[in-house]
Amino acid sequence: MSHEMNGRHPAPGSGSGPIRAHVTGWGRYVPSQVLTNKDLERMVDTNDEWIVTRTGIRERRVAAAHETTASMAAVAGLRAIHTAGIDPDDIDLILLATLTPDYWMPSTAALVKEAIGNTKAAAFDVAAACSGFVYAYATAQAYIAGGLARHVLVIGAELLTRFLDYTDRSTCILFGDGAGAVVLSASSEPGGALGIELTTAPEGAYMIWLPAGGAKSPPSAETIARGEHYIRMEGRETYRFATKTMATTALESVRKSGLDPSDIDLFIPHQANVRIVEAVAKGLDLPMSKMYVNLDRYGNTSAASVPIALAEAVNEGRVQVGDNIVMVAFGAGFTSGAVTVEWTADPARGRAGEAAVDAADVQVRLPVDWDSVDPIPQALVELLARPGPVDVPLDDVVPGEPERAHSEVRG
Ligand code: ACO
Repeated sequence: MSHEMNGRHPAPGSGSGPIRAHVTGWGRYVPSQVLTNKDLERMVDTNDEWIVTRTGIRERRVAAAHETTASMAAVAGLRAIHTAGIDPDDIDLILLATLTPDYWMPSTAALVKEAIGNTKAAAFDVAAACSGFVYAYATAQAYIAGGLARHVLVIGAELLTRFLDYTDRSTCILFGDGAGAVVLSASSEPGGALGIELTTAPEGAYMIWLPAGGAKSPPSAETIARGEHYIRMEGRETYRFATKTMATTALESVRKSGLDPSDIDLFIPHQANVRIVEAVAKGLDLPMSKMYVNLDRYGNTSAASVPIALAEAVNEGRVQVGDNIVMVAFGAGFTSGAVTVEWTADPARGRAGEAAVDAADVQVRLPVDWDSVDPIPQALVELLARPGPVDVPLDDVVPGEPERAHSEVRG
């Protein structure tokens, strides 16, 4: 990030008030391969009815072998940049929330910077698990309000299907892959980010965790044999925390905005479990029509879930200029975060931004003298051998049209 951004470039229309962070662009990318509950029935002792009743999830997406967290993030990021109507090089800062980076180092954000063709941004990853996108959004807001950046690309991207134990039915049914992004831009116009609330409750640190691979337990033949490189979770404890914290965190963010829950037009909650979303609605005394839900199609995509849901909600016409929306998430840590936003961008721009970027045209540079082992878990190899189109246009996943998407993808 150039030092020139440090207050010397005034925000658009500045001079008449504080600098605010407005969403000017949004985009998302999901892999084409669908993994249904029926597919999972062939892997573990589960069934479609249990998964739908207990979670609301019907299917999730699985990244192909050539895809990575960085590649999905770059596609979603470029779509957000096109929606904003700016050039990749206008971005001053790239924040990428993920718990599934491509490598321990460099940051996945650095790889995305190169892939989108940006030359000047600072770039770093944000680690707050499923709350990561909201944490990154809050960070971007602070950079913009402090005059340190004018256009920030905030991405949530996850490739969780490579970190799941496909013998553990209590976790492998929950998660999926994808990426979502927004561009936040400085403006002195009213609206944009209002109240922000972030919490961290470390008493839940080992309720959702990935034991090995870090400094406490470096990778070894023994850690692999012990199955310690996969996500572990205490489902019931996590559920209890999530229902409580999502409602209180959202409420605090709304109150900090000088608003009441009844003033909110749409909540975009983290898409972990529809029962959690229903409990949050009940806790806030709101109807489910105020809660956006797409977890039936994607499962829990961790840090990607809120920005994917936001992009789809806007492109489906669920968000209008002047609406108050709340993005709220919880995750490992335990963390939680909520941001209340007054929406100011033309919702119609999103579909053009989506169509402008073909995933096949976006490349993440690989090392010259190294190649990874096959990244696809053995349990998914046969499934992923089936051919499918590279990406699913947004038209194919809006309510009312899912059958077409399924028949095309699954051939
Ligand atoms: N299929 C069939 N039965 C199952 C399955 C399955 N996939 N998974 C668990 N069961 C069984 C259990 O073994 C248990 O059987 P038992 O009664 O004989 O012991 C029974 O179903 C009930 O299990 P519970 O864990 O009590 O089921 P619950 O209703 O709590 O649902 C779930 C489990 C879906 C995991 C729920 O607890 C949940 O959603 N928790 C929150 C998880 C979450 O949101 N995680 C995201 C974290 S975000 C991040 O940062 C990664």
